[in-house]
Amino acid sequence: MTGLLAVGVNVGIFLVLSVWLLISEKLLVRYGKCVVTINDGALVMEKEGGVTLLTALYENKVFIPSACGGKATCGYCKVNVINGGGPVLPTEIPFLSRGEMRSGTRLACQIKLKENIEIALPEDLLAVKEYRAKVSLVRKLTHDMKEINLDLIEPKEIQHRPGKYIQIQAPGPDGAVFRAYSISTPDYVKDKVQLIIRLVPGGIASTYLHNLKEGDEVKFTGPYGEFRLSENPDTAVLCIGGGSGMAPIASIIDSIYNRWPERTCYLFFGCRTTGDVFYLDRFKKMAEKYPNFKVCYALSDPLKEDEDWDGDTGFIHLSVDKRLPKNLDLQTFLCGPPPMIEAVQEVLKNKGYNPEDAFYDKF
Ligand SMILES: Cc1cc2nc3c(=O)[nH]c(=O)nc-3n(C[C@H](O)[C@H](O)[C@H](O)COP(=O)(O)OP(=O)(O)OC[C@H]3O[C@@H](n4cnc5c(N)ncnc54)[C@H](O)[C@@H]3O)c2cc1C
Ligand code: FES
Repeated sequence: MTGLLAVGVNVGIFLVLSVWLLISEKLLVRYGKCVVTINDGALVMEKEGGVTLLTALYENKVFIPSACGGKATCGYCKVNVINGGGPVLPTEIPFLSRGEMRSGTRLACQIKLKENIEIALPEDLLAVKEYRAKVSLVRKLTHDMKEINLDLIEPKEIQHRPGKYIQIQAPGPDGAVFRAYSISTPDYVKDKVQLIIRLVPGGIASTYLHNLKEGDEVKFTGPYGEFRLSENPDTAVLCIGGGSGMAPIASIIDSIYNRWPERTCYLFFGCRTTGDVFYLDRFKKMAEKYPNFKVCYALSDPLKEDEDWDGDTGFIHLSVDKRLPKNLDLQTFLCGPPPMIEAVQEVLKNKGYNPEDAFYDKF
């Protein structure tokens, strides 16, 4: 009994001290002005210390990706720190590989500005802008998937490469949240952005997007992402996806055939049932027009007795195994749920392709 009382008293003292430390840091500690130098001085900003690097960048209109609002749960907000920033925090470790830690990669949301700091960012990120757009079309694709067109208001144009994504701002219970959504429009469409959104039950941003009506206004930043379509028309392109992974894939395929009608491209798309299938007719028509475009959809759930289906059955990686030739000069894009991506990577490895060379977005 006395032991329990002693533990209780100790925990109480620890809690009071922690709260006191937090309050005194907020009220008493002044770090003064801190200078943030980006890319060898290409951009220099001054900010009152005490805020996170993520906040400092955002307030100066440098929009690096962040999907968790700075809670260290998404791992998107990586920056390369050249000088300053203090030691790596335990909250960052799960998101950083050994190589990244050696090269100074940090999570911007976990760095508190207490001193001058020098960082390096990919040039692409410095071009990211904040956009206002108006919903011009909402179309149901399946029971849980909607296509949403956003006409840009300001800025009026977006420069993007196929497969890039934006970060939509959605109202959450504790303030705005940001979520990544791939652009499904091809690179030559610059005055609008189309999204394909799967409704996640209870999900903040997907519910907000599914409830949008024509005429509503939204805010987003972008474009983001590593996808880079090869400019060599002799390189075949392999797109494998499932669900809302269709969005970047549609952008890639439309961009390809707008520029290179002869280019070889394989599309493998996995769905559970016929109720999850969309865009198949559109791609079949494209395949008639562009003979080097090969389309394969596969259903993983068993067919009902009265259902008509001339595509594959089984998981999509099995179709890739059966239909994808070996020894191609190939560039691969994988966009779908993690188990699908892992199964496909194994198939590609067995066919002699290096899965490390593939671009992938897990969603
Ligand atoms: C690069 C990138 C591109 C993306 N592009 C698209 C896109 O084009 N279309 C699209 O619909 N989504 C896309 N996503 C996923 C999207 O960013 C959100 O994660 C998703 O919409 C859920 O957000 P939410 O706010 O609705 O759910 P949250 O409020 O974040 O989550 C609610 C609950 O659902 C769970 N959950 C979160 N995400 C998923 C998920 N994907 N599947 C199942 N359960 C989940 C959470 O664990 C939580 O329990 C993309 C993600 C990335 C990283
Ligand atoms: S913003 Fe999510 S980990 Fe930093």
